Amino acid sequence: MDILNKVKQAREEEDQLKWEGTFAEYLDLLKERKEVAQTSHSRVYHMINSFGTTKEKGLTKYHFFDDAIYGLDEAIERLVEEYFHPAAKRLDVRKRILLLMGPVSGGKSTIVTMLKRGLEEYSRTEEGAVYAIKGCPMHEDPLHLIPNHLREEFYEEFGIRIEGSLSPLNTMRLEQEYDGRIENVLVERIFFSEDKRVGIGTFTPSDPKSQDIADLTGSIDFSTIAEFGSESDPRAYRFDGELNKANRGIMEFQEMLKLDEKFLWHLLSLTQEGNFKAGRFALISADEMIVAHTNETEYRAFISNKKNEALHSRIIVIPIPYNLKVSQEERIYEKMIRESDMSHVHIAPHALRVAAIFSILTRLKASKKQGIDIVKKMRLYDGENVEGFNINDLEELKKEYPNEGMDGIDPRYVINRISSAIIRKEVPSINALDVLRSLKDGFDQHASITSEAKEAYLNYISIARKEYDEIAKKEVQKAFVYSYEESAKTLMDNYLDNVEAFCNKHKLRDPLTGEEMNPDEKLMRSIEEQIGISENAKRAFREEILIRISAYARKGQRFNYQSHERLREAIQKKLFADLKDVVKITTSSATPDESQLKKINEVVARLIDDYGYNSVSANELLRYVGSLLNR
Ligand SMILES: Nc1ncnc2c1ncn2[C@@H]1O[C@H](COP(=O)(O)OP(=O)(O)OP(=O)(O)O)[C@@H](O)[C@H]1O
Ligand SMILES: [Mg+2]
Repeated sequence: MDILNKVKQAREEEDQLKWEGTFAEYLDLLKERKEVAQTSHSRVYHMINSFGTTKEKGLTKYHFFDDAIYGLDEAIERLVEEYFHPAAKRLDVRKRILLLMGPVSGGKSTIVTMLKRGLEEYSRTEEGAVYAIKGCPMHEDPLHLIPNHLREEFYEEFGIRIEGSLSPLNTMRLEQEYDGRIENVLVERIFFSEDKRVGIGTFTPSDPKSQDIADLTGSIDFSTIAEFGSESDPRAYRFDGELNKANRGIMEFQEMLKLDEKFLWHLLSLTQEGNFKAGRFALISADEMIVAHTNETEYRAFISNKKNEALHSRIIVIPIPYNLKVSQEERIYEKMIRESDMSHVHIAPHALRVAAIFSILTRLKASKKQGIDIVKKMRLYDGENVEGFNINDLEELKKEYPNEGMDGIDPRYVINRISSAIIRKEVPSINALDVLRSLKDGFDQHASITSEAKEAYLNYISIARKEYDEIAKKEVQKAFVYSYEESAKTLMDNYLDNVEAFCNKHKLRDPLTGEEMNPDEKLMRSIEEQIGISENAKRAFREEILIRISAYARKGQRFNYQSHERLREAIQKKLFADLKDVVKITTSSATPDESQLKKINEVVARLIDDYGYNSVSANELLRYVGSLLNR
């Protein structure tokens, strides 16, 4: 059986990675590989960097988050540069709790989960290897064995700073099991694993009455008190709280600010001094990155309470807003659908895009700048060209509302609505209109949509609908032409030949008869009129195009029908205008004749083969466009 072989192989691989030796041997290893002794923060930072980075438009992209987190490049850059990087360098921020603050379902938990999984993997690599005192429930750092008075000397020899003191349990073991000889203490390589509770801890708020501090810091093992005689014997204590288990790695506090205060106090000294109190023992040193998440409302309530000042000053807040790019939002939905039980359902092209347009609109704030409506802003944010605006305008727009993206519709709502649209249909095939309808029908059930917001949201639904109408019309018209690109190119070449002859006062030669002809004024005008070029403006327009062509030629590039935005639009509109009647009559005829039927079948086949529809969604699209054209 293949799967069993794989399991066996994985086990063997893990066996190969195992290492065990004395503390003396460990020090030899450290001489060669200093990185083995890095702090938890440094390990997280290097793990992220091990996936590589690239710089795009002044922004560093961390590939660790590729294919999982979309559209949050700026927030992620801030997270790495304001927290992970300085923390890795042992700067003071590592003594702070990292608090990700953002709206519901905006990716906070996903980011933390990625860090945890990433660190587990990393501890299995050469660079990310971690070693601990063997048999220690807290996988204590072996370097804690070095007595305080020798640490300065150790630093000079190894270049490694040691923080924290040997735990009560290991102090006792050193005496009893090793006779005080630190060189003999056994050290082993450990592998982070949340399941096995090594180096990764999670704490979730539950009922405050029953939640026990022992969950965090461990507890007395009453069954062994008789054996060891006293509660303050470390052997009578179970160091199995989340804070103990997360030592050397990551400790996650879910919904931190919902936690009862008594849990939070432990974090004060853990973050600041790197130790916490458990049972009746001296302070226990721990090295763990503490990451928590919360939403804005809870955060505001927390900081407005004076009592929380001490903790507040130990927190670094990194906002994790919603993504604000339509194309990235689409990818979020694709990912969520792939991971859900809806992955077998056919989702017609553009359905997710239309939902994404709606969501992004709910998250954007209207700009006060002249001439920029919300749709233009949405396009600019997604990196599209918008006439009359450039990259500087984009930067200004972003600065206008630094808090943008902290509210609006969340991805989970959209996915829920898509799934309820699926339930309502008999066939497992969903189109853009189904999605929009379902989004709209859900407003009343969504707890945080006020009646004021609802009005605005209805307007966004209708904007998204209009966008879809344009997309749908274009798609069908394209599918009506045997090869759209080919036709566009032919028409363009024809137009350019005529423009050239017109500007240079040449004649054209008829390719069939060889006769000389005047430039075809009627053809040129029929194209130019599509984009509103008047009789008076036509010469200037044609000359401008010729200048463009020669500019392209000088750079050794070919001018094609994509090279000139307005000309491309004109060509497209002209093609569609020629087609319009055919499309209209064919798609809306209740009793199509034989040739119309043939055409419809051809178009449906093309929509299926080249455009990603299935037969249900292709027929729905044709019917819809037919009704649009007949309005
Ligand atoms: N920017 C994003 N990129 C990729 N996926 C995202 C993004 N934002 C949200 N998601 C997806 O949305 C879902 C919810 O995200 P997640 O649980 O991480 O949010 P959260 O911020 O922790 O929310 P909550 O406050 O409700 O706990 C997940 O499936 C996640 O993958
Ligand atoms: Mg969450």
